Amino acid sequence: MVDTETFVPDAVAEIEDEIGDENAVIALSGGVDSSVAAALAYEAIGDRLTPVYVDTGLMRKGETAQIRETFSYMESLRVIEARDRFLEALSGVTDPEEKRKIIGEQFIREFEREAKDADADYLVQGTIYPDRIESEGGIKSHHNVGGLPEVVDFEGIVEPVRDLYKDEVREVARHLGLEEIVAERMPFPGPGLAVRVIGEVTEEKLEVARHACHVVEDELEEYEPWQALAAVIGKATGVKGDNRVHGWVVSVRSVDSRDGMTARAQEIDWETLQRIQSRITGTNENVARVVYDVTHKPPATIEYE
Ligand code: XMP
Repeated sequence: MVDTETFVPDAVAEIEDEIGDENAVIALSGGVDSSVAAALAYEAIGDRLTPVYVDTGLMRKGETAQIRETFSYMESLRVIEARDRFLEALSGVTDPEEKRKIIGEQFIREFEREAKDADADYLVQGTIYPDRIESEGGIKSHHNVGGLPEVVDFEGIVEPVRDLYKDEVREVARHLGLEEIVAERMPFPGPGLAVRVIGEVTEEKLEVARHACHVVEDELEEYEPWQALAAVIGKATGVKGDNRVHGWVVSVRSVDSRDGMTARAQEIDWETLQRIQSRITGTNENVARVVYDVTHKPPATIEYE
């Protein structure tokens, strides 16, 4: 486990050393990794760091407001409202890797504009150890690892948490006094809710997934899952009054893991599952059924795309 007492001052000193008197940018994703990287870099260089948060419209419930609040002490924070641009770019696209690619490219466009505007020489990234391993293994295109460094001609990339595992990053977050909600927040994929709606990304599906994810995180907190989530996985028949309807199928998933590379589906009690089901179907009349995913990773992945 990381020794936070020495890690934090060492990391801050290293960032100071690397960036010197120049400017830097970081893309805040809302997750704990980039939050910690940003807090360390801000401690090192203050407002010469421009933290950029792009609201893609694919975020969790309340996430953008939370970011504004948590990082309100950074005067240089920029929040970019890009939801409509992302939805337009994703319109009609169903292939999972194509979706990832489009989101990554759109993100780069948004970020590049801000990085140039901030006159940034350095890019700070919240890459952690498992990201590097999975990217090197070609398992998945992680847009937070590839892409950004190539588009803007940065003098250097600074990755203060590159050797840490997720639980170690959380430890550092707590040490830095980052609010509980950030320190304890479950990992959330870069492409956001887009990988929790199978097939085309539409506002309706996103709304179902966003609400269902919120219910699941809320109800399963006591199980302390590595990740608990819900995804819109298709359509099926249900009944509403006297009519048969064709509604959304929401799959609920809750897993234990150390680093996301393997995971075990959690055993959840029936009453909790029923409560989740009734909160999800009760709020959205277009949801026809809720299922619970019992598959470990492998053979499944944690996310649905
Ligand atoms: P999978 O679904 O591959 O996910 O079992 C493993 C862990 O990685 C997260 N994940 C992503 N994170 N960009 C990210 O930054 C991505 O494209 C991405 N896809 C999955 C996932 O939430 C889980 O924690």
